[in-house]
Amino acid sequence: MTNTGEGESRKVAVLGATGQLGARVVTHLRKRGVDVVEVSRGQGIDVYSGHGLDAAFDGVSTVVDCLHLATLSRRRAVDFFTTTARNVLAAAQRAGVSRIVCVTILNAREPEVHRWMGYYEGKAAQERTYRAGPVPVTVVASAQWYELAETLLSQLRIGPLSVVPGMRSQPLAADEAAAFVADRALEPGSTAASDDAAIAGPEVRDMAELARAVAQRRGGRRKILRVPVPFTALGNGGLLPRGNVTSAPTRFEDWLRGTS
Ligand SMILES: NC(=O)c1ccc[n+]([C@@H]2O[C@H](COP(=O)([O-])OP(=O)(O)OC[C@H]3O[C@@H](n4cnc5c(N)ncnc54)[C@H](OP(=O)(O)O)[C@@H]3O)[C@@H](O)[C@H]2O)c1
Repeated sequence: MTNTGEGESRKVAVLGATGQLGARVVTHLRKRGVDVVEVSRGQGIDVYSGHGLDAAFDGVSTVVDCLHLATLSRRRAVDFFTTTARNVLAAAQRAGVSRIVCVTILNAREPEVHRWMGYYEGKAAQERTYRAGPVPVTVVASAQWYELAETLLSQLRIGPLSVVPGMRSQPLAADEAAAFVADRALEPGSTAASDDAAIAGPEVRDMAELARAVAQRRGGRRKILRVPVPFTALGNGGLLPRGNVTSAPTRFEDWLRGTS
């Protein structure tokens, strides 16, 4: 176990350790000398069934939930995120875990936002489940990542076209989100049952325009069909940061230049 300098030893379990965010969180924690337990099905641990969680949480003080299910189905998303959060809470309580860090999407908890996206309703249900649980939780909300533009290019395709919604948000590099999450995981435990932190990028951008720039950078022939969503919270400012939000410094064009 690692002594973090605050008089508290930390062993941190990262759920979703092979994912876009989780793998980066693992790297940032290890750079800080933290003892990390990686959790994914590849490691023989299934958070949805609960199989292997008790052994994974042995001696762990903090759990970071970076799980994801690729679905647009409201029902599947709510079921996955509610079931996994319940399993994590139960195993964390048995193991004496002192804090859970739940990574979510900025404003996904707002009904006017998640009514437009079934997946976001799953994230809202995950957050509610953790907040209602017996273990203190820090909910870390991140704006969309630049990497999402790349993911969307490959999701909804019609021949040479990729269909991408004109979502307006303040995106950031996944690596800056991961560093922020790792910092929150290492903060000395607060006395509050739950507290929040949020991060967004430096500028308001349109996701379809970012996808177009990524496609050009990759040199393929893929064209972007931008679907305007101005009458939904995804397009009319519902995803933009409000209140106290940390600003990540890297601009999209600088991030894109640094990718291959
Ligand atoms: N994309 C964005 O712009 C964005 C912005 C803000 C927040 N977020 C949030 O960030 C989180 C992580 O997203 P991501 O894109 O990094 O996800 P990802 O790359 O798809 O990774 C998902 C991880 O979850 C693991 N996993 C899935 N089902 C599991 C199960 N039943 N048991 C154990 N492990 C399981 C996967 O591992 P195995 O498949 O190997 O089991 C993988 O490591 C999500 O909650 C997402 O909502 C995303």
